[in-house]
Amino acid sequence: MVPCTVFWVPPDDHENLAGMSCPPLIFRIMKYRTLGSNTREVSAVGYGGMHVSVAGRPDEAVSIETIHASLDHGVTLIDTADVYCLDHTEIGHNERLIAKALDQWSGNRDSITVATKAGMTRPEGNWEYDGSPQHIKAACEASLKALSVDCIDLYQHHAPDPRVPFADSIGAFRDLQDQGKVRWIGISNVSVAQIEEARSVAEIKTVQNRLNPFFREAIDEGVLGHCDENGICFLAYSPVGGGRLNKKLPDHAVVGPIAEAHETTPHAIVLAWVLAQSPSVIIIPAARSSANAINSTTVPDIALTAKELALLDGAEFSRA
Ligand SMILES: NC(=O)c1ccc[n+]([C@@H]2O[C@H](COP(=O)([O-])OP(=O)(O)OC[C@H]3O[C@@H](n4cnc5c(N)ncnc54)[C@H](OP(=O)(O)O)[C@@H]3O)[C@@H](O)[C@H]2O)c1
Repeated sequence: MVPCTVFWVPPDDHENLAGMSCPPLIFRIMKYRTLGSNTREVSAVGYGGMHVSVAGRPDEAVSIETIHASLDHGVTLIDTADVYCLDHTEIGHNERLIAKALDQWSGNRDSITVATKAGMTRPEGNWEYDGSPQHIKAACEASLKALSVDCIDLYQHHAPDPRVPFADSIGAFRDLQDQGKVRWIGISNVSVAQIEEARSVAEIKTVQNRLNPFFREAIDEGVLGHCDENGICFLAYSPVGGGRLNKKLPDHAVVGPIAEAHETTPHAIVLAWVLAQSPSVIIIPAARSSANAINSTTVPDIALTAKELALLDGAEFSRA
């Protein structure tokens, strides 16, 4: 047996290994979690595509570079939606961008799971609900085209529409699955009662709700626990607090020292806290730069101690 060192080497540094007398085995830090029972394993850290398509987005080349940075560092799940765009004139912007990024990526496209959503619209840039079966079925056709696929890996109902019976909206997703246009179904922005209502209509693999230290209602109201008990994957959105609150993290009195102890960033510590809430959790942080995207991919390697988790549990995270 040849003794060998095993350590993580970023893909950018692989050429530096040439000529070493005993090349190390290379492995990825990235850990994997299931996307719901009987689905597939995906990276515990996904990539959330929203901020590269809404207001404040970078130019396309930077966006594609950022998506590639995530994928090159082990991300195998991308979250998008038809409504990640500026307004109704460019529905599907984020889906087309992701399709282009995947097309140009040097890795194996088949190893990447893309999750998109239907059930909202963007008239004049506003965010509105449309959970009608007609809208969902038309949106699916548009998303198949935008993503350039025959079948959507994970199709999520974006949010319950108060004007449409929830069972009718989910029925449209079940019909699309029966037609082979959708592989797995997920729901988003839901309560425990709505999860159960959806499950009476279709097999639900994922629930995508907000979870971060500023907003813990997914824990307090039992949604995360319900996912744990029923083999449903919980996709935690806005895991560092979203576009505004994440900017408060570098100055946080409790997060800062823990980040220093782990020689990482406050954002990574908060993401590690979210990931530590349950093995059912997969985090889908957004990023508009490769540096932020890569930072998030290091999170599964951070082992917070029981004391650190308790400190973060008890800390105040002001939304002011
Ligand atoms: N289902 C829903 O209703 C719903 C709602 C909201 C979001 N989502 C999904 O969840 C994803 C994430 O949520 P979000 O975009 O609201 O907020 P978020 O992931 O909490 O991130 C907000 C911002 O924090 C910064 N950030 C993230 N990770 C970082 C890191 N490791 N280091 C430094 N900065 C970091 C990024 O800034 P920069 O952009 O400047 O890099 C990012 O845009 C979205 O992209 C979308 O896919 C779903």
